Amino acid sequence: MLRIANALETQLRGAMQRAFPEAWTEAGEAGLDPQLAPASKPEFGDFQANGALPLAKPLKQAPRQIATAIVEQLQADAAFTQLCLEPQIAGPGFINLTIRPERLAAEVASRLGDERLGVPPVQGAAPVVVDFSSPNIAKEMHVGHLRSTIIGDSLARVLEFRGHPVLRLNHVGDWGTQFGMLITHLKQVAPDALETADAIDLGDLVAFYREAKKRFDDDEAFQTTSREEVVKLQGGDPLSLKAWGLLCDQSRREFQKIYDRLDIRLSERGESFYNPFLPAVIDGLKQVGLLVTDDGAECVFLEGVSGKDGKPLPVIVQKSDGGFNYATTDLAAIRYRFAAAPDGDAARRVIYVTDSGQANHFVGVFQVAERAGWIPDGSRLEHVPFGLVQGEDGKKLKTRAGDTVRLRDLLDEAVERAEADLRSRLQDEERSEPENFINHVASTVGLAAVKYADLSQNRITNYQFSFDRMLALQGNTAPYLLYALVRIAGIARKGGDLDASTAQLQFSEPQEWALVRELLRFDAVIAEVEEELLPNRLCSYLFELSQVFNRFYDQVPVLKAGPDALPSRLALCRLSADTLKTGLGLLGISTLERM
Ligand code: ARG
Repeated sequence: MLRIANALETQLRGAMQRAFPEAWTEAGEAGLDPQLAPASKPEFGDFQANGALPLAKPLKQAPRQIATAIVEQLQADAAFTQLCLEPQIAGPGFINLTIRPERLAAEVASRLGDERLGVPPVQGAAPVVVDFSSPNIAKEMHVGHLRSTIIGDSLARVLEFRGHPVLRLNHVGDWGTQFGMLITHLKQVAPDALETADAIDLGDLVAFYREAKKRFDDDEAFQTTSREEVVKLQGGDPLSLKAWGLLCDQSRREFQKIYDRLDIRLSERGESFYNPFLPAVIDGLKQVGLLVTDDGAECVFLEGVSGKDGKPLPVIVQKSDGGFNYATTDLAAIRYRFAAAPDGDAARRVIYVTDSGQANHFVGVFQVAERAGWIPDGSRLEHVPFGLVQGEDGKKLKTRAGDTVRLRDLLDEAVERAEADLRSRLQDEERSEPENFINHVASTVGLAAVKYADLSQNRITNYQFSFDRMLALQGNTAPYLLYALVRIAGIARKGGDLDASTAQLQFSEPQEWALVRELLRFDAVIAEVEEELLPNRLCSYLFELSQVFNRFYDQVPVLKAGPDALPSRLALCRLSADTLKTGLGLLGISTLERM
């Protein structure tokens, strides 16, 4: 309904201008604001305009009187009367607006067969960078990275659907002191791993990393050798580089398995990519006079961010030993991402999806970039934080043995449980299905459940992971949404021709109108997600749409409808299916015809 809302907004502004020309002139360039919003209750119509109320004081008139004058002007506008029924003034002076049924039906008709479902494409847009997933080499990808992967992928899909060129960047942690420790340790305990690919698997690598870390913390000689190893690596020593490359490959292969399983596309551009640009960060900061040497380290002191002692906090960009750190790399990445092609990405919006624990890091880095003048006018840098994944006990998610949960195991368990649920349902329904059907449904439902459970939460809050809840057929869950689609596919199987041409749509039942109005919200929801980067808004919408669809399906005959009503009802089924499928697709969730 965005198109309709825009038309209404223009008509309301015109009416206000004609009704109160002096107030209009005084309000300046922006003019008077009609304060148009969706109706707060269905019985109030489709929209309400509250712009009369703030005019009461300056105009020294009762708000209802002002509303009446606006309505009079609206009614004199043919474009308005063709769009809306007669406006109603309610309460202190709200103007309630109801779109003419034939206009709503025409909107539905225009969305049938429109694969964009009424969502306007952006044109000539600059690239948007979505920096997500970004696990660390030689460490296991953990549930935090899973959240980043799922949320980032969904945001990237929404932005792509709008028509933005999206760069999906995997900013993997593939550089730094951890390699010094790891290489030193492996040289002693598993030298093969540094010379031949596939000598160890990631599980072992993670264990080696843990051992190396322990030695590093306990053993001074080991520390020294590790540091020397880092220097060698940074100096481009061929043997060290080779070992580093092998370790990265090993991890990369493991990560890729998870991405393939979850249907995630990502371009790897790890921290090491920015190595050549790090010295320029320091020089650049020096040039603009932001750099301060403090205790041998080069840093920028933040404005408005202070530590416990009340002193401004620094962002350290070069340690006293000359090494650079995480923040330096992120500053180099910001410059690169905003810089014009071919030496940069020419992006105008850069989005980082990480846990909220990194919020301070991004506040600092963004401020430094801003003060250094590295953020072009009209560009946006946004941190998209999310909360922790917790077990059902509200504590950090752990296995029963108390270990961190491995992603592979978590996905396996979701699929296994989905399979068990399906088998018991088949038994109850005395249905028999071939094994390949069971496997396909179980893996689709299991992965959908994991993704949807994560995305449907407001990402800012911590999220309690529960297989039972996410796999339930009732409630705001993936299986519930998938099931609505299965019902529609069932209509087609029973002979309903969903693609039949529908010259004239007509609706009579309130359940039909409720569904029409719900379907027409899709474009506005996409616009909201694009702006606020909250996939849970899309989830709530799809859940509500499924509920409204199910009410329609349960209470209004479709296949048994008379010849007048049948084509319009089938059209509603089809648009519901297309909207659900597209919406779930934007969440990275694939759908089923039967389950
Ligand atoms: N590798 C980091 C981690 O595991 C996340 C990187 C996020 N992206 C960035 N540009 N800092 O915590």
